[in-house]
Amino acid sequence: MKAIMYHEFGGVEVLKYEDVPDPEIGDDDVLVKVKAVSLNQLDLRLRSGKSPRPIDLPHIGGVDIAGEVGAVGKNVKDLNLGARVVIDPTVKSDGPPKIIGVNLYGGLAENVKVPARNVVPIPDDLSYDEASTLPICYVTAWYGLHERGGLKRGETILVHAAGSGTGSAAVQVAKLSGARVIATAGTDEKLSSAKKIGADETINYSKSDFMEEVRKVTDNRGVDVIFDQIGASVWEKNLLTLAPKGRLLLVGVVGGGSSTINLGPVIVKDISILGVTVFNAPRNNLINVINLVSQKTISPVIDRTFPLKEAASAQKLLEDRNQFGKVVLHP
Ligand SMILES: NC(=O)c1ccc[n+]([C@@H]2O[C@H](COP(=O)([O-])OP(=O)(O)OC[C@H]3O[C@@H](n4cnc5c(N)ncnc54)[C@H](OP(=O)(O)O)[C@@H]3O)[C@@H](O)[C@H]2O)c1
Repeated sequence: MKAIMYHEFGGVEVLKYEDVPDPEIGDDDVLVKVKAVSLNQLDLRLRSGKSPRPIDLPHIGGVDIAGEVGAVGKNVKDLNLGARVVIDPTVKSDGPPKIIGVNLYGGLAENVKVPARNVVPIPDDLSYDEASTLPICYVTAWYGLHERGGLKRGETILVHAAGSGTGSAAVQVAKLSGARVIATAGTDEKLSSAKKIGADETINYSKSDFMEEVRKVTDNRGVDVIFDQIGASVWEKNLLTLAPKGRLLLVGVVGGGSSTINLGPVIVKDISILGVTVFNAPRNNLINVINLVSQKTISPVIDRTFPLKEAASAQKLLEDRNQFGKVVLHP
């Protein structure tokens, strides 16, 4: 089969479109013919060798996978050939979970082998492209905002980097939950897209100080929740931007993972700091977002699609911060 494999860490040039052996499935596995695989910042970090998650080389990335069941192991009774499915990437075991596309070969390939229990059927009215956007970004948004952040109707939330796959999902999920959504991003174009998917207020953080702008639009009160994918570079101001009893959801650290900051506001304002990792989200979070898309309550934001062999160009788009929402590849 064809796959995007890398044999060394580096820039997008290490991604090779090559022939690799088809995966051999075990008795409890399923072979999924990949129809759509969406990219995440995680794919870029793994490829560059900068992720704290260790991986073996050579590697086939791709964590967000939708496709069709192509073969089943002999113990797999409840999945028919041709079934339309999305993959829950977290393979739970006695030790730390293994992640498909991280610790195991992923979906940047024509076929992927996964344990049958990681396969989740999708309804016919959900496209493969839509399904491929759900397991990481939309589940992170759902799990972060609801299970970790306890976002309530009528609260105000600040979503940083609203143009990212995860940020655009968070804007949509927050809006659906009845929150007032303030979105930040680095370009006016991304912010006008953020408005179209539900942001009430927008702030271009490359031009203005998000803390000052939030104060202006909240009568100096601040926000109840911050969905932060940036980390160190915005943390000090995040703490100052939260209202009393505010919750800071730390989802990502594209802007740095270590910092020296004044922690005083955490105490004075009873702030809660909560980590969020999608790989801990219960399965029903994925089922919830599948249902929301199937009911057309949420429409996943897909910037563009590429053929699998153009994975390097697709990853470059993310690296250059030029997408709004998700980028999907087709084997
Ligand atoms: N904890 C979890 O379970 C979980 C799950 C999913 C994602 N994440 C994390 O969430 C973050 C976003 O992931 P994603 O896949 O949704 O990202 P993405 O679609 O590639 O978008 C990343 C966006 O972040 C913004 N950004 C701000 N500062 C940046 C910087 N220094 N370098 C690069 N981009 C920067 C950029 O938008 P602007 O140009 O508008 O600034 C960029 O387009 C990552 O940190 C990822 O690891 C965590």
